[in-house]
Amino acid sequence: MKHLLLVLTVLWPMQALAQAPDWENPAVLGINKLPYHATLQLPSREKECPEIVSLDGQWRFHWSRNPEERPADFYREDFDVSGWGTIAVPGNWQTQGYGTPIYININYPFVRNRPSVTTEPPREWTAYENRNPVGSYVTFVEVTEEMLGKNLILHFGGVHSAMYVWVNGQKVGYSQNSMSPAEFDVTGFLRAGRNRLAVEVYRWSDGSYLEDQDMWRLSGIFRPVQLWVRPLVHISDYHVTAVPADDFGSAEVQARISLCNTGKEAGKDLRAVFLTEGRELEGRVKQLAPGDTSTVSLSFTLERPRLWSAEKPNLYPFSVELRDRKGRVVEHFDYHFGVKKVEVVGEVFKINGKNVKLRGVNRHDHHPRTGRYVDDATYEQDIRLMKQANINFLRTSHYPDREYLYELCDRWGLYVMDEANQESHGYGYANRPMGEDPAWKQAHVDRAEAVVKRDFNHPCVILWSLGNEGGVGPNIEAMYNKVCELDSTRPPFYDSDRRYSCIWDDSYLYPDQLREAARKVTDKPFMMREYSHSMGNSGGNLQEYWDVIYADSTIVGAAIWDWVDQGLLKDGYYAYGGDFGDKPNDGNFCLNGLIGPDRVPHPHYYEVQRVYQPLQFIREGEEIRIVNRDFFTQVDEYEIVRDTVCFGGEKLLNISARLKEDTPWAPAGFTVAREQFVLEPYTFPTATAGKGQADIRVEGNALTSWVVDGRELLQAPLEPYFWKPENDNQRAAHFAERTALWKEVKDVTVSYTALDGHRILVEMDYRPTEEGRPVMPKFGMRMRIPADFTAIRYYGRGPWENYPDRKLSAFLGVYEMPLADYETEYLRPQDNGNRCDVRWFEIASGSGKLRIDGCQPLCIRAWDYGEEDLEQAAHPHELQRGRFVNLNIDLSVHGVGGTDTWGRRTLPQYTIDGNRPHQYSFILTASF
Ligand code: GAL
Repeated sequence: MKHLLLVLTVLWPMQALAQAPDWENPAVLGINKLPYHATLQLPSREKECPEIVSLDGQWRFHWSRNPEERPADFYREDFDVSGWGTIAVPGNWQTQGYGTPIYININYPFVRNRPSVTTEPPREWTAYENRNPVGSYVTFVEVTEEMLGKNLILHFGGVHSAMYVWVNGQKVGYSQNSMSPAEFDVTGFLRAGRNRLAVEVYRWSDGSYLEDQDMWRLSGIFRPVQLWVRPLVHISDYHVTAVPADDFGSAEVQARISLCNTGKEAGKDLRAVFLTEGRELEGRVKQLAPGDTSTVSLSFTLERPRLWSAEKPNLYPFSVELRDRKGRVVEHFDYHFGVKKVEVVGEVFKINGKNVKLRGVNRHDHHPRTGRYVDDATYEQDIRLMKQANINFLRTSHYPDREYLYELCDRWGLYVMDEANQESHGYGYANRPMGEDPAWKQAHVDRAEAVVKRDFNHPCVILWSLGNEGGVGPNIEAMYNKVCELDSTRPPFYDSDRRYSCIWDDSYLYPDQLREAARKVTDKPFMMREYSHSMGNSGGNLQEYWDVIYADSTIVGAAIWDWVDQGLLKDGYYAYGGDFGDKPNDGNFCLNGLIGPDRVPHPHYYEVQRVYQPLQFIREGEEIRIVNRDFFTQVDEYEIVRDTVCFGGEKLLNISARLKEDTPWAPAGFTVAREQFVLEPYTFPTATAGKGQADIRVEGNALTSWVVDGRELLQAPLEPYFWKPENDNQRAAHFAERTALWKEVKDVTVSYTALDGHRILVEMDYRPTEEGRPVMPKFGMRMRIPADFTAIRYYGRGPWENYPDRKLSAFLGVYEMPLADYETEYLRPQDNGNRCDVRWFEIASGSGKLRIDGCQPLCIRAWDYGEEDLEQAAHPHELQRGRFVNLNIDLSVHGVGGTDTWGRRTLPQYTIDGNRPHQYSFILTASF
């Protein structure tokens, strides 16, 4: 027995190796997969392309917990799937009721043991029971006799993470690399009439070791599926470049068109044609043998080109055609090119010769209902909102998005860093195991090739990114070399191994650190590919960053992390990590967006819009000087509107630059840039008004009762209160622990002076009696009034929420709104709703009204719940609302912070020193 055991242990590893499935074998990236190529037809015009048959729709579907339980012979023609459920393709299976979505950031959701993805995990992990779920898909495709005479190609836009494909019971091939198209030649597999297409998708594969991005881990056929019906001899690929001459007076336009022959007879006298600008350039291929490919190169000089930039997205439409010997059009595709030059000149990054600044954002392809599949309308909404926010740069973190997004960026104008689907963060940032292991080299290179080849023809792409937070070493070098070999017009970028990047990246620095770091790097331009981690109530000190960026020509720009909260709709609310019982998970760390999952902008979206605006207005005496941060748009292209407004003696000048003409992303009149100047300041009431009588009770520092017109106003006392629930940034920086002292107020005296029956002057004075106190969460008071006080009108900064370090976008004005709009609903409830520089604030019920007049500017928060409710709720619907209105009336409040959500703090100038005296006062006026 002993002997037998020994033999078994020796044999087992060898056997395991021999039997390693394709999906746990890094040497197998695909079987019978066609080479990657450029998107042949503009995505918006695919419907006009006679060669494309969409296979999207409801497919038959079966989900298994693991490979052993899958219906292994489901691909057979006689396998009955009529009892199976259905699933929408494109779509993820987890968002359609199958299996568990998992949100996790750095770690792998399975046991790290490459290339295995099925090593036994701890029992509580989702992957313990559902070791490697398999989705089995079946659909039926009608094919005509006529189609059978053609070359038939099955196209999958994206499948997560690996798949096998069968047609009519015959195995066609295998693919991984989930964010890029996979194509198979199915010509010999189809027959006239009904055909059975079977696809088996594995949730995890060895490819998942390179797909360890911080996002929901979702699976399935999530991008469109098409059958391409192509002539036997056809255009297999084409690349168009349009690089301007040094003086930009002309551009060399070059089209390289590849023809291939998939038939059995030689193609004769073929003509590849490039049509643009009234030109018709033709290249001939005399003879193309079966199985061969030939590339024709056509070029011309375009005089006085209109350059493409994000500001002026000038496009030149073109067509490529294949014509036969008689000149008949065999194939026709439409696309567009843009003339632009991207250069790294020493330490300076240039677009079209100018030191353009990239005002950026990162974006995940996320939809709250359909997961990783984002429909066209949502793409349009995203790009429109980005343009409206003056964002000019988009990083497709951390993989190529669906093709239509790039077309929108071409047309509406956004610079794009197109990122390869490569992240092995589970092995550590800049790790060597994945960067150096030769067994994984081709898997890396494949991903670089996929992105460059598919998106080559998009003018919007200015940088190719080799991935995010992955390996260092030869595998990255090989990716770099591949990108350089494929495209000389746009340089590669990479964060983890800076040897293979044209730009030096260092992310999430404080503004001062950015200044220093950029100064120290002297051989490359500098950027922050990620900064201003916009998790929850965030986005502080944005202007501080841009003061540094504009002051240093070697800083290319920076991209905010990130665009959209990755909340997934579940039972009517937006779920985050853990809400599906997914384990391990990273909680709400997926909620870092400038906009919500429903695409409603958060308050910090507007701050981005303001800080990213291309024009700056500077007051110089009576004059306003306009600084233009753009290069290809002149100030006189905007309508400059000046508006003087007066509120209670305070005179304000609002100045704005508006679009003169409609654009695809905003109508004429849309405000692109704005500023507010105080011409004559507000006169705050003085605290010396005469004494009167009021029905009040004061106990210590608290006003415990105030009966006005026979009714009690206070549901809880007005009292000094220095505590504030944390926001996400503060939670990560252990703010509550550091400032716990302030759960009790100290060294403060408050006086209440009745001015008359309806008016009380409140004065508060803080004089610290010891040193070494932490910063104060806020300095001010709190009270609770009846719940029906919900109509708000105030004069201060608005209309949206603002904090001391995030208030540039919120102009002074008189704003009116219900309490529900005064609050901001973050998907993980946290401190919210503050308004700064409030002069006066009114809150009314049907019959009653309370007014607060600051004797200096105030910060005011109003909620229909308490601090204790906020601190307990994990989701908005769990908040206990409506028992009272909670009013915080403060001199100041701690800034939201704007660097990262893993420890960095609010900048000191936006904090409240607990070691200094503070005092403030206000007048309350109440009536019923
Ligand atoms: C970055 C990473 C992003 C995201 C972010 C935190 O380092 O590249 O994918 O995880 O941190 O939200």
